[in-house]
Amino acid sequence: MNAKIIGTGWELPAYEADNNYLSTIMDTSDEWITERTGIRKRHLAKEETTTSLAAGAAGKALKASGLRAEQIDLLIVATITSDTETPSTACRVQAELGAVNAVAFDINAACSGFLYAIHTADAFIRSGIYKNALLVGAETLSKLVDWTDRSTCVLFGDGAGAAVLTSSEQGGVTAQTVGSDGSRWEVLSCTGRSNHNPICQEPAGPGFLQMNGQEVFKFAIKTVPLCIEDALEQAGIPAEKVTYFLLHQANKRIIQSVAKRLKQSEDKFPMNIDQCANTSAASLPILLAQMDEQGRLHSGDILVLSGFGAGLTWGACVMEW
Ligand code: UT7
Repeated sequence: MNAKIIGTGWELPAYEADNNYLSTIMDTSDEWITERTGIRKRHLAKEETTTSLAAGAAGKALKASGLRAEQIDLLIVATITSDTETPSTACRVQAELGAVNAVAFDINAACSGFLYAIHTADAFIRSGIYKNALLVGAETLSKLVDWTDRSTCVLFGDGAGAAVLTSSEQGGVTAQTVGSDGSRWEVLSCTGRSNHNPICQEPAGPGFLQMNGQEVFKFAIKTVPLCIEDALEQAGIPAEKVTYFLLHQANKRIIQSVAKRLKQSEDKFPMNIDQCANTSAASLPILLAQMDEQGRLHSGDILVLSGFGAGLTWGACVMEW
């Protein structure tokens, strides 16, 4: 049995901050951000929280799936911006939805989080342990970025996307590749918690997301094509047969570079980075859910999802819609 998506949903905060607005509060410009990244605006949470965005997207995905909340066996939220250190965002979403029979937990794999969630759900569904899984990618990165660091803060946005997966004899996830390289954790990190135990007094670190952008860029354009090729080889599907490649929306130039390396038309690489910026773990499920809503996905389509991010982490999966 394969894990197949039967419903999707997305939710963005109401407030939109375009590049021109950012240029009024820091030394940047619409021209720089658009040319270097493809981003034109991002949504920033004001009233919304990671939990409210996650629950909103999850509720829509559940409704679209036709399942009732009690039928969900597994509820995973991929996030690096949980509102609470504990409990997990997944437990709070479970409570919001009334998914009383689900086992709920978060995955912290940064921008690869949704792929790690698919990887995990697929293993549980394939083994027969669980039948129905609700996966969410949700972030409020606006609370994690340093708003005095123009090289990072302009890149990120807030939002959530979700998908319900069920065990299916036909279609669904057919191949995956995921990986991690913890030796390179400092390339993209957020440290900051202080220690006040009786024997050790350590001050807090910077507390903001810190990134070597060029290192991440090089890592992405090298690793993403390789892991996509690996997943396609496992699935026995040539790149030409893929309907859409949905890539983590971090930078338009990264997506264009991957398209070039795979020798595929850019038309097969849908983007919403101009509207949403980089929403980390939420980026792939938001893009998927928006395409689903727009009626762009049809039964039998072959999709490749791929992402990369802090950890370092990366992944790709092949699925039949
Ligand atoms: O989800 C995964 C997480 N992250 C990523 O995927 C990010 C991957 N990396 C990137 O997307 C790109 O490296 C960036 C968009 C972050 C940066 O683009 P870049 O072409 O590598 O620019 P750069 O860092 O080499 O900076 C070029 C110039 C610098 O000025 P000087 O030294 O040439 O005078 C920066 O200070 O651009 C300057 N700069 C800015 N200027 C205006 C950096 N940020 C800004 C800004 N506005 N926001």
